[in-house]
Amino acid sequence: MVANRLPVDSRTLPDGATEWVTSPGGLVTAMESVMRTVDSGAWVGWGGSPGEAPEPFEADGMSLYPVRLDQQDVERYYEGFSNATLWPLYHDVIVDPEFHRTWWDSYVTANRRFARAAGAVASKGGTIWVHDYQLQLVPRMIRDDRTDVRIGFFNHIPFPSVELFSQLPKRNQMLRGLLGSDLVGFQRESDAQNFLGAVRKLLGYQVDGQVISVPGLGAAPVREVLVQTFPISIDSEAVSALTEDAEVRERAVQLRRDLGDPHKVVLGVDRLDYTKGIRHRLKAWGELLNDGSIDPHDTVMIQVATPSRERVEAYRQLRDEVELTVGRINGDHAPIGRPAVSYQHRSFDRRDMTALFMAADVVLVTALRDGMNLVAKEYVASRPDLRGVLVLSEFAGAADELRAAVMVNPHDIDELKSAILRALAMPEEEQEDAMRSLRHQVMENDVQAWAHDFLQHLEQSGDPAYGTR
Ligand code: G6P
Repeated sequence: MVANRLPVDSRTLPDGATEWVTSPGGLVTAMESVMRTVDSGAWVGWGGSPGEAPEPFEADGMSLYPVRLDQQDVERYYEGFSNATLWPLYHDVIVDPEFHRTWWDSYVTANRRFARAAGAVASKGGTIWVHDYQLQLVPRMIRDDRTDVRIGFFNHIPFPSVELFSQLPKRNQMLRGLLGSDLVGFQRESDAQNFLGAVRKLLGYQVDGQVISVPGLGAAPVREVLVQTFPISIDSEAVSALTEDAEVRERAVQLRRDLGDPHKVVLGVDRLDYTKGIRHRLKAWGELLNDGSIDPHDTVMIQVATPSRERVEAYRQLRDEVELTVGRINGDHAPIGRPAVSYQHRSFDRRDMTALFMAADVVLVTALRDGMNLVAKEYVASRPDLRGVLVLSEFAGAADELRAAVMVNPHDIDELKSAILRALAMPEEEQEDAMRSLRHQVMENDVQAWAHDFLQHLEQSGDPAYGTR
């Protein structure tokens, strides 16, 4: 498996020693539990700090192969092209994408490094699974060197409309990079259709249903690439099992106590990213407090904002705005000795996160755009007691499956406010009905089933006549 990040991130401690901590984001959440269960697999990725890569090592039963990114790669390939060009473009230009040719050059060089590392690790006739927007050139780069392997690619984030994708300089190289795969997977049907549309319009390749005929690559005159939707999930059973842990249960009780035993606790959990709709959410919350619809003496909001991409300008700005808004709301409304919004700018481990979900009466997942959003699924898996309400953005991939949530258009502040009030007032019986239906979906469709489905399709795809396979 090849991803920009390894499941662990290296941190340098004050005494110079290195500590490894879990990397942020949905990709790692999902893939970590998949990779722990495979017998012989390698994870090729970056350790999160610039400089020489450490030697391959084992962690939690996984074989990790670090890839080196130097300071310039981090600035141009990771912060630049990946997160200031592709990320905003693929999330419907919520902020303006920036493009620099030096960033592109670095994207190509870094992708080549990942491709070489993967090619060196994969056994003959093996399977290479490439992940996400940072590595879209990797499938073709591997394919050019290795005709014996099967290559799958999964995009964890949305794939934009043809109109938006067409703005990307180097768009055709990007498509050709992806088409080095045998199977290209997306979260939602709309993403797959956007990709097929871009291939048809920009490359003029023949598309027959979900199959693209790619001409003139390698030994065969035409190679077939399958495009399919695979909505990602979580290790539902493991999350659900944590709710039985006595210590986690006690933490959930203690959390509410620490907040002064409010009548209702509302929770948001996001990477501090402009796609997550945190600003809109806080605006709605502030207005509900201002107009007296919510009493801060009996209702508290917790917003967990995991630090993310802190050297990218749009993320710095977002942090400043969010912290200003939280400060204002607390200044205007917080009772002495307790917050109106408890703002947590840090990451929480799995156990603390489960305790938070168990303590929350309402969880707000109000992303403006999101590939899937696994927080929504984690909340559902954390509620075997069938209590709690999920408010879910229709612009998150999870909205296709979690139909029993309170659906909302997060761009509409009035709609957001009434969805929050509806969730807070929902009778227990109605909560149980909705949560039962949500749990059915999440517990039945876990990340192991997702990975199995993807790999099975990969096994059956590709042209056996191609290359030496
Ligand atoms: C999203 C992306 C991942 C990424 C994660 C965290 O989930 O799909 O590819 O790893 O965010 O972002 P970061 O830039 O810290 O890796």
